[in-house]
Amino acid sequence: MNLTLRVWRQKSPREAGRLVTYQARDIIPDMSFLEMLDVVNEGLILKGEDPIAFDHDCREGICGMCSLVINGVPHGHQSGTTVCQLHMRHFHDGQTITIEPWRARPFPVLKDLIIDRSAFDRIIQAGGFTSVNAGGAPDANAIPIPKEEAELAMDAAACIGCGACVAACKNASAMLFVGAKVSQFLHLPQGHPEREARVRNMVAAMDREGFGNCTNTYECEAVCPKNISVRVIAELNRELRRAAFRPPPAKRAVGAG
Ligand code: SF4
Ligand code: FES
Repeated sequence: MNLTLRVWRQKSPREAGRLVTYQARDIIPDMSFLEMLDVVNEGLILKGEDPIAFDHDCREGICGMCSLVINGVPHGHQSGTTVCQLHMRHFHDGQTITIEPWRARPFPVLKDLIIDRSAFDRIIQAGGFTSVNAGGAPDANAIPIPKEEAELAMDAAACIGCGACVAACKNASAMLFVGAKVSQFLHLPQGHPEREARVRNMVAAMDREGFGNCTNTYECEAVCPKNISVRVIAELNRELRRAAFRPPPAKRAVGAG
């Protein structure tokens, strides 16, 4: 396959970027999208040019690092797929492909197609964990959990923190991501001691980072490579409302339930 690529090139966060056209020649349809970019980069390096910078790590759809907007869609048109798992057989010979970074103010471009996703790390640090000691795997498994609840937790835990939901949203809302992180603990008993603090702190961190609000466009769900449902956004809203009616633990009367 021979393709024409229009790639966003930007030297640094302070410099303006622009789309630059490259030819990708002799691409094998079984290559992944990132392998296709590897081939283009080898050509650029041989010519003494700066290779295209893009993020990746596992290349197995599990780390959430790959982040390209392909022809206007985060992770490309293939649903439920990360860029690293997207194969060139889904494109056709002679096609022109536009490749851009995630576009959202809380994710500034560092170089070319690489964005700074540390805003997500700060949201997780605000409460996306359990600090209670739940014991080892046998102890944790000794607590009976209805299968339906366990499935809801597992579905939410599938979120890999890639940020495509933000990139697809006209408001750069991170509510699908935050909802998934809140939901994965909400449906497990180990997540309950910090339930109210978690949702309060994570939503406050999300707002501080400059992410917008959800207006039910559902684009986040459409592009999510892990098929996270907007159900978790409804759950996030319910959790926040519930926490608003419960004072923080320090102010609660001793023995209050
Ligand atoms: S909810 Fe989906 S799109 Fe958003 S960060 Fe998680 S895996 Fe990525
Ligand atoms: S490189 Fe890890 S999910 Fe794509």
